[in-house]
Amino acid sequence: MNVLLTGGAGFIGSHAAAMLAEAGHYVVIVDNLSNSDASVLRRLERVCGHPLPFVEGDIRDSALMRSTMKQHGVQSVMHFAGLKAVGESNEKPLDYYSNNVQGTISLLQAMDQCDVRQLVFSSSATVYGQPQYLPLDEAHPTSATNPYGRTKLHIEEMLRDVAASSAQWRFVCLRYFNPVGAHSSGLLGEAPRGTPNNLMPYVAQVAVGTRAHLNVWGDDYDTPDGTGVRDYIHVMDLVEGHLAALNFLQDNAGWSAINLGTGTGYSVLDMVKAFEQASQRAVPYSIKPRRQGDVASCYANPQLALNKLGWRATRSLQDMCDSAWAWQSNVGK
Ligand code: NAD
Ligand code: UD1
Repeated sequence: MNVLLTGGAGFIGSHAAAMLAEAGHYVVIVDNLSNSDASVLRRLERVCGHPLPFVEGDIRDSALMRSTMKQHGVQSVMHFAGLKAVGESNEKPLDYYSNNVQGTISLLQAMDQCDVRQLVFSSSATVYGQPQYLPLDEAHPTSATNPYGRTKLHIEEMLRDVAASSAQWRFVCLRYFNPVGAHSSGLLGEAPRGTPNNLMPYVAQVAVGTRAHLNVWGDDYDTPDGTGVRDYIHVMDLVEGHLAALNFLQDNAGWSAINLGTGTGYSVLDMVKAFEQASQRAVPYSIKPRRQGDVASCYANPQLALNKLGWRATRSLQDMCDSAWAWQSNVGK
């Protein structure tokens, strides 16, 4: 199948590109490189053994999106492009609504004009807001606590309206938990710009020596060791979930929202220990006050993904840390 990957030069999109190409799909990437750089494409070429078609541009440029879809005979879209930093979304909400919501509207309009009506959307567990019960299943009420989360919620709801308007449209919203880890080649991984907000890239930078120590945001939560518990999922498991969603779309019209998580929670200190073991480096840390907006625990009920997509995560915490370390100590440093 000919698949367009918006944001395909980013962390998750680049792994999806590698896996789709390996599975024999034709992949074309559109990315404006606002949070990635062209070196990813050279590394993707090494991983795939051939260059992947790449168009530098913005998903809000409908004319570019139309010409790209026509030129490459696109049949299906995986929509990764968007801004994703929670703190920044509080400071620059319009950038988030423009890139994420307006970007998705432009993309859908271009798709409609090209008769492309299948899309897998990168949603987030952030749409569950403050968990009312655990594990989180898809029936859990949705809400948002910041502009980033609200853009994800708006897009999910917009896709549901569009799917209801015509049986031609097919959407799967994948609600990611905490994607971590890297490609087994060591050539693709997460390379955040500036100071990482998320735990795993921060821990990796401490292990490699770029940062002196980790700040652990709170050890007084109601969790086994007092630190926050999350559902970390290997990025390769995550992108396998996208392939399963793409297959699902071939036989199923309408709209679905599906969790991609493992169902298992690990604490901050579990992650530190596992990373120390993988890297054979110390990860010094100090306990700091809680981070505003954080919850004690957040993990998925992944049953619907198994029922609908026949998918479940298989890679271990050790795999996540080993691959993240191979990347960090190789290209990512
Ligand atoms: P990323 O920033 O590494 O990748 C996103 C890519 O999209 C970047 O390469 C960026 O340059 C590009 N992009 C941004 N705006 C664009 C635009 N208007 N036009 C064209 N390209 C644009 O992020 P990621 O971690 O790979 O996340 C991918 C998607 O998954 C995002 O939508 C994100 O919100 C969602 N998500 C990520 C996580 C996570 O922890 N990484 C969790 C839940 C959901
Ligand atoms: C963050 C985002 C969320 C997004 C999710 C997955 C925030 C407030 N939320 O959530 O919207 O869906 O990532 O990408 O940013 N931690 C530390 N020290 C650090 C960094 C993190 O102790 O330097 C702790 C946190 O307090 C938390 C855990 O590590 O307990 C995981 O944090 P993080 O990686 O930021 O993910 P989430 O909090 O799940």
